[in-house]
Amino acid sequence: SISIARCKRISAMSNAEDSLGSLKKQLAKLFEVSLRVTVPTETDVEPLVAACTGNFGDYQCNNAMSLWPRIKGKGTEFRGPPAVGQALLRNIPPSEMIESCSVAGPGFVNVKLSNSWIAKSIQKMLNHGIGEWAPKLSVERAVVDFSSPNIAKEMHVGHLRSTIIGDSLARMLEFSKVEVLRRNHVGDWGTQFGMLIEHLFEKVPNWEDASETAIGDLQAFYKESKQRFDEEDGVFKERAQKAVVKLQGGDPKYRKAWAQICDISRREFDRVYQRLGVTLEERGESFYNPFIPGVLEKLSNLGLVEESQGARVIFLEGVNIPIIVVKSDGGYNYASTDMTALWYRLNEEKADWIIYVTDVGQSQHFEMVFKAAKRAGWLPADNNSYPRANHVGFGLVLGEDGKRFRTRSTEVVRLVDLLDEAKTRSKAALIERGKDKEFTEDELEKTAEAIGYGAVKYADLKNNRLTNYTFNFDQMLSDKGNTAVYLLYAHARICSIIRKSGKDIEELKKTAELSLDHPDERVLGLHLLQFAENVEDACTNLLPNVLCEYLYNLSENFTKFYSNCPVIGKPEEASRLLLCEATAIVMRQCFNLLGIVPVYKI
Ligand code: ARG
Repeated sequence: SISIARCKRISAMSNAEDSLGSLKKQLAKLFEVSLRVTVPTETDVEPLVAACTGNFGDYQCNNAMSLWPRIKGKGTEFRGPPAVGQALLRNIPPSEMIESCSVAGPGFVNVKLSNSWIAKSIQKMLNHGIGEWAPKLSVERAVVDFSSPNIAKEMHVGHLRSTIIGDSLARMLEFSKVEVLRRNHVGDWGTQFGMLIEHLFEKVPNWEDASETAIGDLQAFYKESKQRFDEEDGVFKERAQKAVVKLQGGDPKYRKAWAQICDISRREFDRVYQRLGVTLEERGESFYNPFIPGVLEKLSNLGLVEESQGARVIFLEGVNIPIIVVKSDGGYNYASTDMTALWYRLNEEKADWIIYVTDVGQSQHFEMVFKAAKRAGWLPADNNSYPRANHVGFGLVLGEDGKRFRTRSTEVVRLVDLLDEAKTRSKAALIERGKDKEFTEDELEKTAEAIGYGAVKYADLKNNRLTNYTFNFDQMLSDKGNTAVYLLYAHARICSIIRKSGKDIEELKKTAELSLDHPDERVLGLHLLQFAENVEDACTNLLPNVLCEYLYNLSENFTKFYSNCPVIGKPEEASRLLLCEATAIVMRQCFNLLGIVPVYKI
């Protein structure tokens, strides 16, 4: 039976197809019509449209070559792929979008878009907002599971990467009108709590009123208790193990101590999120704990759970080790929680798309969880159908020495210190440029934060997430090259061009006409229109670097335009100011999707 929600979803999807967005998709619709007329027998052929790399056009349709072997010898009127291409061209329905078409080489149909249509589309965006260019996804609700540090252990640069990448993906989905459940799957239920609680009881007898001040540095506290757990005669270890049992059995005293320890960690995590402007809802491992037995029962009833060396496991195709859902001592583990969380997200939260952002080291874990869910029939066998689950893996953060990133003195990098340093350095650079005399104290602070934190985020997001990246303050804070600083300055400069013109840009949006007569104006205009398909690509393929590259190229195209097309005081001033404004709007939307705060003045 189709639920009302599903009906709504289906009709929303078909409406979406009529609206603006990706140029590629709009052209594909035209070629779809042409295909049905040109080769009426080949009903399952989908239009293949791609951006052109050469100078023959803006986009090309590549269907002719692959169609040919399908229709050859079946009484077709065509003599070869170029003729199929010619027919595809002839049968494109009339459209304002297209200026001209041609067939090249073995049968590519090249399309040149109309200048006036590009200009009109940009003008529409200026008047109706950038929301017009948001991707249309067939997803209603998504879970993004990101950041997810472990209580009492350090929040390290890996968690920073997860936070930055996950936030950007969540932002892209939200922009695409998807409801996003931003989930912080904190490690708050591990066996480490036994030793932490026992150590707390002993070291801080009045812990009920004074745990925060008495514990002080939770990471040091963790180390102390770990040392006792590992090194002493085993008496402490035994007590710690008993404490875990009491905690998990719900003993109020142990629960209270646990809650206090979690609270201290939480406050520290929140400081990082606040600086980064990231919102997250905590749903730690402990949340799913009560649901584990029920979920395991469902899996057992399906006949999936088997006994193996005292543990309860699920065997999976193509993986030589099974996933352990109950340890041999009867306890639950990371996988039991993740199986349960996946079940909960699909069945209770009714998410269509569940995205997990962690380092690539956890790929196998997620691969196993997803395979088990497929065996249980929770997820479809086909990876591209919905509901869908994806692991978004990322590489390591390296230091200058090419090894795992650490500071000189301690073995871990405190994230708050790292962000502080980024801000301090960007503030110093601003002062060096004399900005302390131009800006108010508040402006200076805000700009230093936007640039400093923006630089850290962009340095992380601009690379393909699977590669390791080297953390280097000098590089990320340079105002040259592909950095946030360069891009933020470029945006501020556009804003200052508009300010200096003295024109009311809102008025111009209503009265002036945008035209793209100079070749560099056209290149910039077309690039602006390609925003939609780039966000869609970044979002559906879970690759924020695609958006970074788009943004960087936008800035380069703008620079070229601005050096060849003077704006202020020229006959084209009004039109060119509109193009400046459109560029600034698109840049700001990109910053927004990357979690970077734009700067208007520099
Ligand atoms: N706490 C884990 C870690 O620090 C990450 C959790 C990721 N999410 C999940 N559902 N397993 O490695």
